[in-house]
Amino acid sequence: MTASKHTIDRFRLDGRVCVVTGALGLLGREHCRALAGAGARVVVADLDEKGCEAFAAALSDELKMSEETGPVALGFDVTDPDSVDDALERCLDATMTVHALVNNAAINDMVENPEANAELSKFENYPLELWRRSMEVNVTGTFLCSQRFGKVMADQGRGSIVNIGSTYGVSGPDQSLYKRPDGSQKFYKTPAYPTTKGAVIQFTRYLAAYWGQAGVRVNTLTPGGVENDQPDHFQSMYGKRTPLGRMADRTEMAGALIWLCSDASSYVTGANICVDGGWTAW
Ligand SMILES: NC(=O)c1ccc[n+]([C@@H]2O[C@H](COP(=O)([O-])OP(=O)(O)OC[C@H]3O[C@@H](n4cnc5c(N)ncnc54)[C@H](O)[C@@H]3O)[C@@H](O)[C@H]2O)c1
Repeated sequence: MTASKHTIDRFRLDGRVCVVTGALGLLGREHCRALAGAGARVVVADLDEKGCEAFAAALSDELKMSEETGPVALGFDVTDPDSVDDALERCLDATMTVHALVNNAAINDMVENPEANAELSKFENYPLELWRRSMEVNVTGTFLCSQRFGKVMADQGRGSIVNIGSTYGVSGPDQSLYKRPDGSQKFYKTPAYPTTKGAVIQFTRYLAAYWGQAGVRVNTLTPGGVENDQPDHFQSMYGKRTPLGRMADRTEMAGALIWLCSDASSYVTGANICVDGGWTAW
């Protein structure tokens, strides 16, 4: 290992290729922006190829990147092995190699329209089909991308995989958080999401142990709830359950993500880094 004169240099990602799945989502876009800002060539990966192209172009303009170092767009479905294989091939055609993979794509079902799904969100009624879909995207998708993209890293003897977890993968949901101001409850956090995120944290440990000797580090980054125009009442309840007293800003995962993808975390593997305002400390 070459020791850098300045520790801060070890956070830089110049010349590194970092693949981000779920790149068009709330946090995915911030992950891409953070990694590109640290010098990485980011592979913007999500279901909608045209959307990936548009975001990659916008990011390139925003950060004034050249065609050789700027973001690459890759539309694929993380649950489909053929689609992942094809994406890897196209990625390598464009970037030659892969240094880091951020498994960020996930389904957090029923968050958008809880009122409409009130009855279905109860554990007793929760549909098997939704359970299976979350397992497919959140767990199988993480497995497939790690297996395919990670092999490139293992073959070259170096790489970093960051699996995006959730506080609900660490502690069980407090259902009273979802009570409305009048005390009624129209939405329950569903069982699939916390279960899949717990699986992601354990998968991280498995793979860190398996690929340690191959030079591939594997860690979980566990975000807390991110502010995204939730009702004031919800934000206030969330803040009261959080030592730092508030929800996360979408930009606040960036420091930990850059650290985990870079050589600055060269002796960190199998860890779960919680960026959750202390939510899991209580
Ligand atoms: N937002 C939060 O408050 C929060 C809190 C804790 C953890 N997280 C985690 O952070 C990550 C990102 O969350 P977010 O809020 O940005 O989610 P989001 O719903 O905004 O984005 C998820 C993205 O994943 C993509 N995706 C879904 N299925 C896919 C598939 N089969 N193949 C490829 N892409 C697919 C979607 O198209 C979407 O762009 C997730 O892993 C989530 O569990 C988020």
